[in-house]
Amino acid sequence: SEMKKLTKILIGTHNKGKIKEISYLLNKKIKKISPFQLNIDSPVETGKTFKSNSELKAKYFFKKSKIATISDDSGLCIECLGNKPGVYSARWAKKYGNFKQAMLKIIHLVKNKNKNKKKQNTKAKFVCSLTLHINAKKKYNTTGIIYGNISDKILGKNGFGYDPIFIPAGLNLTFGQMENSEKVLMDHRYLAFKKLK
Ligand code: IMP
Repeated sequence: SEMKKLTKILIGTHNKGKIKEISYLLNKKIKKISPFQLNIDSPVETGKTFKSNSELKAKYFFKKSKIATISDDSGLCIECLGNKPGVYSARWAKKYGNFKQAMLKIIHLVKNKNKNKKKQNTKAKFVCSLTLHINAKKKYNTTGIIYGNISDKILGKNGFGYDPIFIPAGLNLTFGQMENSEKVLMDHRYLAFKKLK
């Protein structure tokens, strides 16, 4: 595949959790570079969709580095909250102070939405849009989605971001309670990566 021909790749994100996961997925032989090493900052995410932000980031980092770039835009969408925080997932953590506060806020909002309801709707999904920008002419984009539910407590210390409140469908643990090696081979980023390959 085209990805196999690449000798080095820039992982176009400053999110250390994402860098770790994407590095894990990429072939061992590919040299992985991060924006930290090149002193490149992040673009402003002006897009309204995961896809537009993912493409915007890949284009930005490719233009600055001239190195083939893989970029991710991802987030948590909660059905009873009209798919929020969605593309604002990182920004909610800023708005509420940190991820712990944002997770407590989400638990509270979900609880309120379901008050007096017979059937509780805690459905959620993590979405990831990946873009591989190979050169000025060639780029590829894929989306991966993992479905699940929001837990009623913060559970587990593994992973990053909203991992401690997301329970993937069919399992009884949050991503935060799972081994990282297990999460990395099932999540939204993995599903998008498989398609990209
Ligand atoms: P962005 O793609 O940089 O706009 O930020 C995505 C945000 O979504 C991250 O900062 C996390 O808060 C959240 N997120 C994306 N993927 C994951 C994941 O695998 N686990 C937990 N949180 C995630």
